Formats: sequence, structure tokens, C-alpha cells
Amino acid sequence: MKVTFFSHSTCLLEIHDKYLLIDPFFSGIPVFHNVNFIKFFKKIDYILLTHAHYDHVCDVELFSCKFDNVLIISNYEISNYFHKKGIKTYGINYGSFISFPFGKLKYVWAAHSSVFNDGTYGGNPGGFLLHTDEGNLYISGDTSVMYEMNLIPSFGKLKLSILPIGGKYTMDIEEAIMASDFLKSEKILGVHYDTFEDIKIDREQAKKKFFEKGKELILLEKGKTIYI
Ligand code: NI
Ligand code: MN
Repeated sequence: MKVTFFSHSTCLLEIHDKYLLIDPFFSGIPVFHNVNFIKFFKKIDYILLTHAHYDHVCDVELFSCKFDNVLIISNYEISNYFHKKGIKTYGINYGSFISFPFGKLKYVWAAHSSVFNDGTYGGNPGGFLLHTDEGNLYISGDTSVMYEMNLIPSFGKLKLSILPIGGKYTMDIEEAIMASDFLKSEKILGVHYDTFEDIKIDREQAKKKFFEKGKELILLEKGKTIYI
């Protein structure tokens, strides 16, 4: 599995020949101003949305215009919101694995909130657990640490967890370390930091803190890829 980090919480997963974009947020980020970022993408098959906040859904329509066959996977309320805009969606909720061509996917609990910028209710916030033949991946979405994370590894050992680490709206470094213990996850890709002034972190310090607990915190530059 190929995981490319773009910005904030936006990552692209390549699983065999399927391309999954998570929480697309480019337009509000200074480095992407006046950049035709869509041209970096040859194909997108799925867009996974963890919750309805602007910094997770703002570029959905841009991508769905460019890639007609894209399928949005999210909770029922978010799916409904985009379905009304003429986009193909697949609405789910907590409670089971669903099979897709890239593997099995489960929408899992997150301790956060979820509302669109226009005030539309965005359902319960969540994360995704992906079980694929290239390994298992947990994308927590915006959340604090929570006991429910203990359940995640009981479904299967994780190769990678994508966790927010910037604090204020989500877990900070300390909570993300607690979360990775609950998850029994040794390899963490940190997201949701440094985008705004109020979620700035000390990257070296963060990596050191994870290292001291026997974990690896991966922080990627924009557009950089890891293979798991
Ligand atoms: Ni949020
Ligand atoms: Mn957020």
C-alpha cells in the first residue's frame, strides 16, 4: 500500500489499482494558492470523509467534478449532503465491515463533532478501519484519545495508524502516544498539525517523544510517500 501525504489530514492511498483520497483540503492552504493541485492526480476512485468540518470536505466537489466516477464513502448524513449535489455516495454508519474492491472498510467512532460550514448537520464524526491484503490501516479522523480505540486491534493487527497530533481540536502528541498504545500500533503517520498557527508542533520533539515510547512517528513533507 502506498500512502501519500498532501496537507493537513489529506492523504492518498493506493491499494492495488484503486486510489482513495482522504479528507481533501487544499484550497484553504497557502502553499496551494494559485496551484492547479488537481493536476497531481491521474485518477481518484473513492473519497473517504471522516466528518463534515470544512478542513476535511472543502475540495470534495472539485475532485468529484474532475473524476466523474468517484464514490464518496462517509456517514449517512455526509453522503446524503453530497448525493443532493449529484455526486455518487455510499452512506454507512458504525457497526460492520463493508467489502469494496480495495478491501474491507469499517466506519468507527471518533470523539469530535461534525457540521458543514452552512450549518447542515454532519452526522456523527468517525474514522476508518481498512483491512486489505496489503495490510490493515486505521485512519482516526479528528478525535481525542478514547477507550474505544482498544477495540481497533482486536479486529486485526495494524500496519499503520494515521492520527492527528496538533492538539486544540484533536489529540496532541501525548494523547496520540496513549492512542497508539491502545491501538497496539508501532507506526504512526501524524496529520492535522502545523496547518494553522494554533496547531503548530515541534516536529523533532514529537518524533523523540514517540521514539522514547518505542513507537515511530512519521511526519511527511507535502507530496511525499511511504509504502507499508
Ligand atoms: Ni474537525
Ligand atoms: Mn479538522
